[in-house]
Amino acid sequence: MASISSTIELLSRPEAEAAAAQVRSCSPDLVKAPWNFDGGSLPAYGPGASMADTAPAATPRQGQIPEEYRLASDEELDARILAAKEKLGEKLVILGHFYQRDEVVKYADFVGDSFQLAQAAKEKPEAEVIVFCGVHFMAETADMLSGGDQAVILPNLAAGCSMADMADSDSVQACWDQLAGIFGTEPDADGRIPVMPVTYMNCSAALKAFVGEHGGIVCTSSNAATVLEWAFQRAQRVLFFPDQHLGRNTAKAMGVPLEQMPMWNPRKPLGGNDGQSLLDSKVILWHGFCSVHKRFTVDQIEQARAEYPGVRVIVHPECPMPVVDAADESGSTDYIRKAIAAAEEPTVFAVGTEINMVNRLAAEYPQHTIFCLDPVVCPCSTMYRIHPGYLAWVLEAYAGTATLPGGEILNRISVPESVAVPARVALERMLAARP
Ligand code: 13P
Ligand code: SF4
Repeated sequence: MASISSTIELLSRPEAEAAAAQVRSCSPDLVKAPWNFDGGSLPAYGPGASMADTAPAATPRQGQIPEEYRLASDEELDARILAAKEKLGEKLVILGHFYQRDEVVKYADFVGDSFQLAQAAKEKPEAEVIVFCGVHFMAETADMLSGGDQAVILPNLAAGCSMADMADSDSVQACWDQLAGIFGTEPDADGRIPVMPVTYMNCSAALKAFVGEHGGIVCTSSNAATVLEWAFQRAQRVLFFPDQHLGRNTAKAMGVPLEQMPMWNPRKPLGGNDGQSLLDSKVILWHGFCSVHKRFTVDQIEQARAEYPGVRVIVHPECPMPVVDAADESGSTDYIRKAIAAAEEPTVFAVGTEINMVNRLAAEYPQHTIFCLDPVVCPCSTMYRIHPGYLAWVLEAYAGTATLPGGEILNRISVPESVAVPARVALERMLAARP
């Protein structure tokens, strides 16, 4: 099975018309390299699943990388990346998320889900630089958890996350103030505070700091249930942001009735709720979602079951609740990987998560039939922004070449200590809540 880059490349080769006819993509722009979207006057997520979302004005933008990296062939980039890696040795660690394209993942010293990558950021104190092939909030987390003298580099600053951008500090603070007006701040007879903020890892460092300052905790999709249990021991209810689906799916599986999970729309007074429904709530869900996972539907699952009787359907918990309910299983990217790795008999798997990861699993486990539930090739548009050209650019700047002196840290992600100190409190709680 082809990786996303080679699948997309097929789309652009006229001689591969027959193959291209079978591969539908969500954007013709996917045949273009990510630097075609750099340096624009408006911030944009790029082609892929969040291309219809509007990036906030403050979203970091990536300037044009030098032409030599844009024009280099795959073979040249490969040789240059490997030479820089060799030169830097133990001074460098490259972390890669499962959703990165194969052409990037192959250089990673460690590939994992967001929980594992947060752990990995702490585990190489000897490395001078951590190059994070993932998205902005993951690089911020790596910066906060790694040593103070280690530099974290995000090869393309435009690699953000549209879901993370759906909650900002001002809106969350406004929500918090309104909730305090309804619930007060006094604990109940069991010592449980009225409401605890719980944030999904997919948010800014500033929101992680907010959570840390208010007795809350960060979760990832792999430990969300453990984190909610932790929270309910200490609070009467939870404000969960930014992903409504992860919050709803996790709380529902724990037995929380849907009526006790009102949604908070930051554009409406009281989030669009009345005071009583908030008083009766157990989990207040922020109005956020992932544009990749919202593409999966119950229809796709029904079609997979009709075409492949006995198919095992596994989806990520960022999918909407009806999709998770219709699937056989749901879990984080690492859960999906382990479930497929553990299958002893040849099995048909229909997977509801990002296409790069699904295609890689299909290539790794040829004894199984593995396909993405969504028939349209539509990657995460921000993960897509990382490409070997950017990796070669940041690595050579630090390693040095015949023409570059080296020692230059490009695209450093650095969270100020005033934010990192409270955010670390919430992150350390997350790391202690093992999946
Ligand atoms: P996990 O790697 O934690 O499963 O999260 C998936 C994701 O969407 C990362 O943004
Ligand atoms: Fe964000 Fe969704 Fe992409 Fe994950 S897959 S980085 S949640 S947009």
